[in-house]
Amino acid sequence: MCGIVGYIGMKEAAPVLLQGLEKLEYRGYDSAGIAVYQDDIFTIKTKGRLHDLKQKIEKMDTSIHGSVGIGHTRWATHGAPSDVNSHPHSSENGRISIVHNGIIENYMELKLFLQQEGRKFVSETDTEIVAQLFDYYYQGDLVDTMIKVIDKIRGAYALGVLCSEHPDEIVAVRKDSPLLVGIGQNENYIASDIPALLEYTRDYYLLEDNEIVLLKKDSIQLFDLNRNEIKKEIFHVTWDVSAAEKDGYDYFMMKEIMEQPEGLRKTILPRIKENEIQLDQIELTAEQVNNINRIHIVACGSAWHASIVGKYIIEKLSRIPVEVDLASEFRYRQPILQKNDLCIIVSQSGETADTLAALREAKKHGVRVLSIVNVVGSSIARESDDVIYTWAGPEIAVATTKGYSTQLSVMYLLALYFGKARKTITEQEMTDYIQKLKKVPDDVQKLLEFEDRIKVLAKQYAHSKDVFVIGRGIDYAAALEGSLKLKEISYIHSEAYAAGELKHGTISLIEYGTLVVAVATQQALFEKLISNIKEVKARGAKVVAIATEGSTSIEKVADEVFYIPKTSEMFTASATVVPMQLLSYYIAVERGCDVDKPRNLAKSVTVE
Ligand code: G6P
Repeated sequence: MCGIVGYIGMKEAAPVLLQGLEKLEYRGYDSAGIAVYQDDIFTIKTKGRLHDLKQKIEKMDTSIHGSVGIGHTRWATHGAPSDVNSHPHSSENGRISIVHNGIIENYMELKLFLQQEGRKFVSETDTEIVAQLFDYYYQGDLVDTMIKVIDKIRGAYALGVLCSEHPDEIVAVRKDSPLLVGIGQNENYIASDIPALLEYTRDYYLLEDNEIVLLKKDSIQLFDLNRNEIKKEIFHVTWDVSAAEKDGYDYFMMKEIMEQPEGLRKTILPRIKENEIQLDQIELTAEQVNNINRIHIVACGSAWHASIVGKYIIEKLSRIPVEVDLASEFRYRQPILQKNDLCIIVSQSGETADTLAALREAKKHGVRVLSIVNVVGSSIARESDDVIYTWAGPEIAVATTKGYSTQLSVMYLLALYFGKARKTITEQEMTDYIQKLKKVPDDVQKLLEFEDRIKVLAKQYAHSKDVFVIGRGIDYAAALEGSLKLKEISYIHSEAYAAGELKHGTISLIEYGTLVVAVATQQALFEKLISNIKEVKARGAKVVAIATEGSTSIEKVADEVFYIPKTSEMFTASATVVPMQLLSYYIAVERGCDVDKPRNLAKSVTVE
């Protein structure tokens, strides 16, 4: 959350900062600002989107000149979005300018201290306190000052700092919030994420917690908290720039929906070798798998939904008991973790604050951690014992689609891998599962062909007040994701229900014309779901069903049916989610919503 960019070099800094921020808007977009050194530090910032900032800059009488600067796009935590609460924040004397991502937990106490020292504050933010504190400790050296500041502040932060007395330097640090250093020729950068800098460099240092970087245009020095200089490996990015561009689509979300088959192919196929799943990257041995006592899958948001699907499949195929937790709950509920437990952490970004904290909690208890992550080199990937990457490519839209789908596919791989190791799947079953698993990308591709039909449907239901999504078993897990997609991007109230639970309350909300999406792919539960559909139909609901080819009896009860190709019942969530993603997308477009940047949300949630 919140995007940071910093530039020092020979070019004009302002355009570089603005362009970088544009690529980071998915991290927050309620205000934006930049500070550039030109004789002194010049700051311009505003409530609103980046284009509001650009307009404000265009309306200025003079233009901004200077080749060192910092920029920020904000997702508000302390203080509502407003011009004054926007970053960069300055010390009272204007000497220090700071951009910050994260939360300073002891900011009240520090504020009081600084007020007693006579400092005055203009904003409601925790960041302004850091700017003032930095100035308070400043005695001429930026790294020394940063070390003193870090000693005093508590919480999560990525900080980028400019000082008017050091116009040729930027100092930055991270703790529990991502920050990387872009390496250029006679120019260097900092940023919260790679897409911000892809146009300028492919070479990065990925900062670890409490590593401080001092940037000059022709040097990068990294320090630990004792001011010892440290050496780091350079991380080279291999994706091309177009991977982070819209490629002619109106929104990233649609591009990413369409990229699902490709992401699935890359995630699944190289891991299938003849009749086996080979997870070469992980060191978890068959013996360790046999000894697993219990699996804890921990995640947030859609990754949590993928984890619920994972529970159904892993339990069914390997008979290992699985608990699924929301990371924000897991970390504080004193989970019972035992020696032979395995913790699976799922995160597209690899930076979600609660998920990262859950990982650390599990490790504190000596439990092995295997993570399923999309962003290579992210904090979660680096801190896990084993990592299985989802090869979805960069995901920019706030609402995940290909991130989620590829997470599902890793769940399938793991379930089969565990099942084989524990001999709970026969050779014949394995052959059958593998054959169907290979087909998952094509099945998803087929569902994308429903786009035109779904567009029509979206027009019909764009003004719904409530939408319910129902299913049983894995279909219920998929319903959770379908419902979240709709509410997060279209702002229509939506809930997912295990269909058997409907009559325990929710059915009272069904009115004439209420849309109910029913997912019905699990044959053993099919008849029961048909009964649930009848129950809502009897109360006036309109039903859009998603079922498996051949289950034509559903047409007698549903108003509209989308069929997914026949596959293993274990893998249906990959296909069933597609019409729900498309429906959510087109309803959001129909309602004039900003699909990629839904209100109040951000991707990569790096605050608790
Ligand atoms: C945010 C995003 C969701 C995502 C969740 C977890 O809320 O908007 O799409 O599922 O964070 O993110 P992660 O990166 O940990 O998968």
